[in-house]
Amino acid sequence: MAKVLVTGGTGKTGSRVASLLRENSMPVRVASRHPASDATSQFFDWTQKDTWPSALDGVTSAYLVAPTGGDPARIMSEFVSAAKEAGVQRFVLLSASQAPRGGPAMGKVHQLLYDGDAEWAVLRPSWFMQNFSGSLHLKTILEENRIYSAAADGRVRFIDAQDIAACAVAALTSATPLNSDVVLTGPEAISFSEVAGFIGDAAGRTITYERLTAAELKAMHEARGLNTFVATILAQMDEGLASGAESQVTEGVQQLTGRSPRPFSEFTAENAGVWKL
Ligand SMILES: NC(=O)c1ccc[n+]([C@@H]2O[C@H](COP(=O)([O-])OP(=O)(O)OC[C@H]3O[C@@H](n4cnc5c(N)ncnc54)[C@H](OP(=O)(O)O)[C@@H]3O)[C@@H](O)[C@H]2O)c1
Repeated sequence: MAKVLVTGGTGKTGSRVASLLRENSMPVRVASRHPASDATSQFFDWTQKDTWPSALDGVTSAYLVAPTGGDPARIMSEFVSAAKEAGVQRFVLLSASQAPRGGPAMGKVHQLLYDGDAEWAVLRPSWFMQNFSGSLHLKTILEENRIYSAAADGRVRFIDAQDIAACAVAALTSATPLNSDVVLTGPEAISFSEVAGFIGDAAGRTITYERLTAAELKAMHEARGLNTFVATILAQMDEGLASGAESQVTEGVQQLTGRSPRPFSEFTAENAGVWKL
């Protein structure tokens, strides 16, 4: 049976893609720099090419999650070539709603798949709900009862990583390849005030949304150890939310999975324990 390589296997979407494939009894190889100690997980580092051949051995399709830090385009393009030579026939790339084909970073990998002869799909999700249950916002929620953003009253079509994973599995396993990109969103666009309300209700205490300017948010990211380049990009992306850059919902999840995406209220109810003190 076809074996699926899942890169980013310890991450928000990759771990869920691997679980869903296992639930469907699909052979899977889960790759990352911190693999679990089971037979289907293995060490893989995008930046160490000697880890590629064993990751690709016997694989016919691959879920691609970019390495963190730096521009991933060159290394991912080289990997796609190596994977095709090793027999991989289908690629599903995790990109982002704001990363169009031909643009920088993942946009270049998207272009490569579009121009190539392999089967492909590019998933372009909006912002993940899991940013509030993980690193980006969890610390300030737990330590200050606050969520910081430069989004003003901008509404965001947050998506659950579980829905992205379900779309990835559909794109990896469908009889006919998608050979297209799809923008994935949650079912509604909500403001950061509403986000704070949902999380506060789940946590059982008041969580406040603190509006920052982009300059203040950049300074905050830098104070928390991010380099200036990353801090600037993150602050600019937040500022873009104010003008509605992430406010239009799409039918992408419904099209790929046949069901509606999960609302934010379901995510907070399910993860309430994460925000409790
Ligand atoms: N978070 C969002 O709101 C959002 C929205 C739209 C698009 N995206 C896109 O989604 C992708 C994932 O972002 P995320 O923040 O959610 O991260 P994530 O998938 O939760 O974590 C990154 C994963 O990549 C692995 N990884 C990182 N560097 C690696 C390397 N050099 N070699 C092998 N594996 C490596 C990590 O595992 P190890 O550390 O174990 O190696 C981890 O499994 C990014 O491309 C991002 O642009 C994110």
